[in-house]
Amino acid sequence: MTELKNDVFLRALMRQPVPRTPVWIMRQAGRYLPEYREVRARAGDFLSLCQNPELACEVTMQPLRRYKLDAAILFSDILTVPNAMGLGLYFVEGEGPKFKNPVRTAEAIRNLKVPDVERKLGYVFEAVRTIRRELNGDVPLIGFAGSPFTVGTYMVEGGSSREFPHIKALAAEAPEVLDQLMSVVAETTIEYLNAQIEAGAQAVQIFDTWGAALQGDDFKRFSMASMQKIIDGLIREKDGRRIPVILFTKGAGPLLADLAETGCDALGVDWTTDLATARGYVNDKVALQGNLDPATLRESPEVIRQGVAETLASYGKGPGHVFNLGHGITPDIDPDHLGALVDAVHELSPKYHV
Ligand code: CP3
Repeated sequence: MTELKNDVFLRALMRQPVPRTPVWIMRQAGRYLPEYREVRARAGDFLSLCQNPELACEVTMQPLRRYKLDAAILFSDILTVPNAMGLGLYFVEGEGPKFKNPVRTAEAIRNLKVPDVERKLGYVFEAVRTIRRELNGDVPLIGFAGSPFTVGTYMVEGGSSREFPHIKALAAEAPEVLDQLMSVVAETTIEYLNAQIEAGAQAVQIFDTWGAALQGDDFKRFSMASMQKIIDGLIREKDGRRIPVILFTKGAGPLLADLAETGCDALGVDWTTDLATARGYVNDKVALQGNLDPATLRESPEVIRQGVAETLASYGKGPGHVFNLGHGITPDIDPDHLGALVDAVHELSPKYHV
């Protein structure tokens, strides 16, 4: 493997000194980019794009050609995992993801098995190898998966949900059945992420978009414990380098203190907790990633620059900050506005690292 030319992202995740704050953006490959929409049209649809390693590599590289980003993220989706478990994923334009066979009963959940990930998800690992070749050591590649609870919401509800009625009913009325679901998804995710690491992923992020919709104790029992189980099962070092793990629980707030004890290297923070407060919660035990409100990207370049300045100031001096949005970039954003954000991080962050 070629030497890594830019390792500021990996160093920051390990809270080592860096000359400036590294930056990447959740959903950096996506619909706000016209060149993404063009390749997606060529692939036919989103799932076909995920399943085509050459095209998945192409859209992974697109944002890196436009912006001075410090990491690439594998182009895929968190719902490829339940798809591999036989739930039948499909997307309805304007409605988001759906499953043909949701799992709502104790029996359906008992019948779920850890799939043969090499056979069912080999296209993902092939995409990872293809992207690593194309990156040629320029920046590290992030692999990812969803948290078992977040993935579980789609498996149980059958698609996107606001209130999560079915999975919350399981948590209240049949918690041991939900434990079982968390367990089989966690075991699959360990195999899935370890195969991404073997294929070349240099850091991994677990997206826990919906975990904080649970009440505190339930969050710990279902979402946090299953992420802990994944972390315990992951390959943590490869080719002499640590493979950092980032947990992103949207809306975690004070739960960040508990999440810092899971053995992860870094925590994603959304914009509802400022970084100074988050830093207090985790007591510099882990690095922090975030957290500008994605809505700021709709404002003028001057306002975006001000938002970047405030985010950097909120984290303050010292190592352990990776710049990102507090959640993914939305499809309506002007690509030049993301350029203003990335340039501002490069220009304004060095003074926090002297
Ligand atoms: O960050 C990246 O650039 C990597 C790619 C990535 C995608 N999805 C691509 C995608 C990642 C990391 C995800 C994670 C994901 N997928 C999450 C967790 C992160 C988060 O944003 O909270 C969730 C909940 C999903 C499930 C999912 N997939 C949803 C809700 C949607 C949106 C449906 C819609 O129509 O808005 C998707 C589709 C999806 N995943 C798109 C992309 C670029 C849009 C698909 C398209 O091109 O139409």
